[in-house]
Amino acid sequence: MDKESSNFSQIVLKNVSKVFQDFVAVDNINLDIKKSEFFSLLGPSGCGKTTTLRMIAGLESPTSGKIFLGGKDVTNVPAYKRDVNTVFQDYAIFPHMNVWDNIYFPLKMKGISKKEAAPKIEKVLKLVNMLNFSNRYSHQLSGGQRQRIALARALVNEPQALLLDEPLGALDFKLRVAMQTVLKDIQQELGITFIYVTHDQTEAITMSDRIAVMRQGVVDQIGTPDEIYNKPATPFVASFIGEMNFVDGKVVEEYEDELKVKIANNFIICKKNNYLIKKDDEVLVSIRPEKVYINPEQKLPNQIYAKLSRIVFRGDNYQITTQFDSSELTSVVAAKSINLNFNLGHELRLGWYTEDVQVFPIQLKKNIIKYK
Ligand SMILES: Nc1ncnc2c1ncn2[C@@H]1O[C@H](COP(=O)(O)OP(=O)(O)OP(=O)(O)O)[C@@H](O)[C@H]1O
Ligand SMILES: [Mg+2]
Repeated sequence: MDKESSNFSQIVLKNVSKVFQDFVAVDNINLDIKKSEFFSLLGPSGCGKTTTLRMIAGLESPTSGKIFLGGKDVTNVPAYKRDVNTVFQDYAIFPHMNVWDNIYFPLKMKGISKKEAAPKIEKVLKLVNMLNFSNRYSHQLSGGQRQRIALARALVNEPQALLLDEPLGALDFKLRVAMQTVLKDIQQELGITFIYVTHDQTEAITMSDRIAVMRQGVVDQIGTPDEIYNKPATPFVASFIGEMNFVDGKVVEEYEDELKVKIANNFIICKKNNYLIKKDDEVLVSIRPEKVYINPEQKLPNQIYAKLSRIVFRGDNYQITTQFDSSELTSVVAAKSINLNFNLGHELRLGWYTEDVQVFPIQLKKNIIKYK
């Protein structure tokens, strides 16, 4: 793929909102999805993912804002005239048609003959590894196989973009992981833009080029999986993706690009970010458990002493919880890399690097997701 085409904006949403009666389901969102991108909409139940996808498909019209496909304003273009296909969670394929006829259906609607369609159908069946299943009916297929046929049917007329709404939601864990690979391989082979809706953070992180993390109708952050994981823009993103420690603190000193923050009776250094945070402000500090080192060999830029309060064995790692004053910090350590010859109550030295800590205005603490 050449550089020019990879920068081409395939799907653009400009200030798009959707209000149902008086409920704001999507609140002024902006997206710029590039050609051939695997782009995910990630967020908890009810945050507006399906509504956003339905507006892109043309199944729902925005209350305000504009939608562009391939540079063309399609805000008022009906669904059937948009060059996108959608795969839904329930992957309905027609029960009275065999696999071949199911995939032929969208081509038939376009007036394409069976003869002309045959090589196209063969190509997509091969792609989803279902060539020998042409004559089967829906009830003769497993869930994963039905899902692959639904995918083949959505791909057969080679749309500009494929919209997938939790397409693997109904599959068991192993099949789900296997299908993730199938989907990703197909997307790379065809170079079709994918918009993938999921509430599963691991799925989004492992499959996507970029992710938009949604919360109550708004987009909190758009970034690569690495950016979303390592540089979460809000406490909500920080809490929704992976495990995270949150500690309250207060800024006691402001430097050129760092802040000195007091947490309980300790002082730590945080990097400044886009938030306007000043001396004396109350803040929320976050750090990933795997970035908190226990009794590190060298002295790290930040360190505190804390008492061991809990050890949980999790197979390949230990989750180690420590207390200092009224705060708590959890650390995750690879099982093979730690010598656990200390008792509960033992004092440990915890250390971490300045760039691994995020600092947020305390007002954003209310958006932390707590159900984990
Ligand atoms: N037709 C409608 N009328 C009224 N409210 C609606 C309608 N469709 C969706 N909503 C509301 O809009 C919000 C967003 O719904 P949406 O289906 O987009 O969420 P979602 O992120 O896809 O959630 P899930 O992960 O559960 O599928 C929800 O609170 C939902 O109840
Ligand atoms: Mg949904």
